[in-house]
Amino acid sequence: MYCTRKITDDITWVGSDDHRLAMFEGVYSVPHGISYNSYLINDEKTALLDTVDKAVSEVFMQNVGHTLGGRELDYLVIHHMEPDHSSTMIQLLKDHPETTIICNKKILEMIGQFFGADLSARTTLVNEGDVLDLGKHKLTFVNAPFVHWPEVMVSFDTTDGLLFSADAFGTFGALNGAIFADELDFDLEYMAEARRYYTNIVGKYGMQVQALLKKMDKLDIKMTCPLHGPVWRRDFDKFKDKYSKWSSYTPEETGVVIAYASIYGNTENAANILACRLNEMGIHTTVFDTSVTSASEIIAASFRYSHIVFASSTYNGGIFVTMENLLHDLVAHNLQNRTFAFMQNGTWAATSANQMRKLLEPLKNSVFIDNVITMKSALKDGQMAEIESLAEALKASIK
Ligand code: FEO
Repeated sequence: MYCTRKITDDITWVGSDDHRLAMFEGVYSVPHGISYNSYLINDEKTALLDTVDKAVSEVFMQNVGHTLGGRELDYLVIHHMEPDHSSTMIQLLKDHPETTIICNKKILEMIGQFFGADLSARTTLVNEGDVLDLGKHKLTFVNAPFVHWPEVMVSFDTTDGLLFSADAFGTFGALNGAIFADELDFDLEYMAEARRYYTNIVGKYGMQVQALLKKMDKLDIKMTCPLHGPVWRRDFDKFKDKYSKWSSYTPEETGVVIAYASIYGNTENAANILACRLNEMGIHTTVFDTSVTSASEIIAASFRYSHIVFASSTYNGGIFVTMENLLHDLVAHNLQNRTFAFMQNGTWAATSANQMRKLLEPLKNSVFIDNVITMKSALKDGQMAEIESLAEALKASIK
């Protein structure tokens, strides 16, 4: 049975939630599910904006059929070719031979790459500034390369002020019937997942997100309709401001992330002692065990806070494996403007701190605190002063 929500009188959400996906993109857990959004405009012409993941194809096809109400589907607009939005496209086009695809050249190429099909004969190519006239609604196309793939474009309905923003302003987390952000407690229930979604999925491409934000400033946006997560019809500026901070690698808050990789608990013990000293100084900390918490959570926290301490055992003469994976992931996500400090442990050769620093040195505008805590197997009584000193150095850098 169909399951839809009206966005406006003539625009309908025809997407669906997926609660059974274990790992989005094969790497990110989605414990609260995810929504795949698709929108259908019923105007003089009909237009479907993107499709959905194959996991929810059955209800999606019913949603489209019900919302069309027997009308033909004139256009399928494709903003983004990643399969979570395109894997039902071929079936939809088979069911609707009358439909013309609206997309850009890169998207058409990717259709061929993914599906081995040349659909150029039923495609109208568009580019920045082109307009699709549906009657009352007119969609203007805006290129948004690398938000999140190179082919991405967004579209703006100049009639009602709706921005169809593709992956931008999306979030992990199913909608559960609440299609608008103001129907949810977004800050409490979704913001952390929105941050984890943005930082891990699009975080590397801050400059390109900034370019889209600049283009958005010129539009009179009344509603933002992403491909995942809720539609924004009020209080959007606060979320947009988060995007501005994340994409410029500006910390949202002053505070210290402490990420530790500990084999027998001694490095963990040192990390916890440092966290105690920092909290006594009134400095907020958030502590992660890299062997327990996924890198995506720690990356999200690293985009949120200003300072990061990495504490790692030395392993096979290098950095402990879960810490090394985290650091490579952080570097791949292009984190910038952060202050780093290190703690290292080793029973016969503690060498991880310098290796961790070397991995992070390419990141722009990094500050490294020189106080490095070195443990020989475990922290000794006499080293409490060193922890105090590192806490003081972090405090001084926060000032
Ligand atoms: Fe939701 Fe980049 O796909």
